[in-house]
Amino acid sequence: MDKKCILFVVGARPNFVKIAPICRALQESGMPYKIAHTGQHYDRMMSDIFFEELAIPAPGFHLRAEGNTHARQTGEIMKKLEALCLAHPFAALVVIGDVNSTLAGALVGAKLHIPVAHVESGLRSFNRCMPEEINRIATDHISDLLFAPSRTALANLQREGLESKACFSGDVMYDMILKGLKMAERRSSILAELRLQPRGYYLATLHRPYNVDDGRQLSEIIEGLSRLKEKVILAAHPRLRKNLKRFGIVPGSNIQISEPLGYLDFILLEKNAIKIVTDSGGIQKEAFFVGTPCVTLRPETEWMETVAAGANILVKCRAADAIVRAVSCERVPLYSHRPYGDGRAGEIIVGALQARFCCRAIQTP
Ligand code: UD1
Ligand code: UDP
Repeated sequence: MDKKCILFVVGARPNFVKIAPICRALQESGMPYKIAHTGQHYDRMMSDIFFEELAIPAPGFHLRAEGNTHARQTGEIMKKLEALCLAHPFAALVVIGDVNSTLAGALVGAKLHIPVAHVESGLRSFNRCMPEEINRIATDHISDLLFAPSRTALANLQREGLESKACFSGDVMYDMILKGLKMAERRSSILAELRLQPRGYYLATLHRPYNVDDGRQLSEIIEGLSRLKEKVILAAHPRLRKNLKRFGIVPGSNIQISEPLGYLDFILLEKNAIKIVTDSGGIQKEAFFVGTPCVTLRPETEWMETVAAGANILVKCRAADAIVRAVSCERVPLYSHRPYGDGRAGEIIVGALQARFCCRAIQTP
């Protein structure tokens, strides 16, 4: 194996969307790299579909890590990734986002003295009950190179004394959606398949443990969605589907539950929805990118720029009434502000990785 090869560690659905624009830039740069898939997400519609649709190169390594608690999942990924890194002299590890695969990758790199770069660094919800907040803080503090998607994220890193390792890259999800929407308009027929009219339905997703693992809270949210006048397309994450069944919750007749959707179908649905109701991090931001108002079923967000623009309303207490009120609230969002870069985050990140870790490897003789 090339001594200068960089290893990208990915494992969960949002990681796949975020690595796609980086891979595009990597291909143009000719920089040697490999992908390790941890196996955190494994269903076809949570994993393979993204590699196929977004032309992400097949992972060179599949760790198939299992584990149904945070420690087991993180530990299992670490054990397998450590063995891989001991067998191959990687120049650096790149971890993305805030999932357990992110933290596991950063810990393995730091302990083996392999430089670690963190894409989507500096986000803070200031809520340490979220597993992602622990993953973000720990990953940022043990990584060597930090790519901030927004000025707010960069300021968070500065406040924590990490500015010497940090730079503003812009957001890779913005890069992806600029390309993705054009691809989706050519390739997706999801509106016709689901018999939907543009602006004739709401789009919803739910997967945060505090919304879906508690039966009473989940019933309250489903009740709120059931009271909406228009159809709701609920693209169900496996955690939601399992809990609807476990708690015996029956959604109202206006709610159409689907499997998780492919990225191209999903972003086309985002663009054409009346509003989006979600507890996802990435979807709040995509709603802002495509100009569809968002209602976020969370007490706080890492993406405060979307709230400041009037494009995203947080529902702190997720009671049915509060959800209906937030969805009915009419505001005129300001979409002209562009806080997440100019659509070249992938190139900026690859340029920085190349300068830092691989400058000799990419020189032509
Ligand atoms: C994880 C991330 C979360 C991210 C979300 C994106 C952590 C701590 N959480 O949450 O930050 O927002 O992914 O979707 O890393 N399952 C399947 N099939 C799959 C994947 C999962 O059935 O392909 C089921 C499994 O029973 C699993 C459960 O969903 O136990 C939860 O999966 P897990 O990766 O632990 O957490 P997510 O809720 O997906
Ligand atoms: N997504 C998708 N299909 C779906 C739901 C989401 O392709 O059915 C995409 C969505 O467009 C976004 C990403 O998955 O790019 C967000 O991932 P998720 O909500 O699972 O995680 P989070 O962003 O909350 O970490």
